[in-house]
Amino acid sequence: MNTITFALSKGRLAQEIIKMLETLGILSLEMEEQTRKLVFYSADKKYKIFLAKPTDVPIYIEYGIADIGVVGKDTIMEEKRSVTEVLDLKFGSCRLAVAGFSDAKKLLASKKNIRVATKYPNIAKEYFLKTKRYAEIIKLNGSVELGPLVGLSDVIVDIVESGKTLKENGLEVIEEIANVSARLIVNSASLKVKYEDINLIIEGLKGMIK
Ligand code: PRP
Repeated sequence: MNTITFALSKGRLAQEIIKMLETLGILSLEMEEQTRKLVFYSADKKYKIFLAKPTDVPIYIEYGIADIGVVGKDTIMEEKRSVTEVLDLKFGSCRLAVAGFSDAKKLLASKKNIRVATKYPNIAKEYFLKTKRYAEIIKLNGSVELGPLVGLSDVIVDIVESGKTLKENGLEVIEEIANVSARLIVNSASLKVKYEDINLIIEGLKGMIK
């Protein structure tokens, strides 16, 4: 029996994928309970599931510690790990955008030196390079909206889901970079060696996509 290991993103994407894996009979309800436990097994021990920080999920997949991962497209774009993206799960949809106060539009159009705060330094760097503007990228680890609010940066590059955080802080989307959603990623060696098992899971999930 092949064992299949899943690395799932903790946080905003976790609930939806746990529900989908429950429907496929891969995991038990135990994961929905409030617990600090990190590693779970299916009753028959065929499936091992662990929860990791989203940015770490591609690392576990690249190193073959997990066969299958669920992570946002934003994280895949930022982390640039060697993983195979096999399915758009179509939940956790949000936009990657440049945002700031309304008056930052002029600065963005002027191509002058722009200060950008972000959790996504690679994405931000590439975007400003592609749009031929010089940007000083400042990496933050959370509450990125503080950048323009406290004067650390002119704009931010961040994900916008409901838009509530921007709105409540007087900020707005100025430029859209990409639409992102949850993706299924796999380790390329696992895909070859455990093809049948992995394909069954991909097909099962495909049938559930709304
Ligand atoms: C994300 C993102 C925005 C917010 C967007 O942060 O960085 O701050 O959510 O969501 P909204 O458009 O629905 O308001 P997250 O909640 O993951 O926490 P963090 O700021 O600590 O990274």
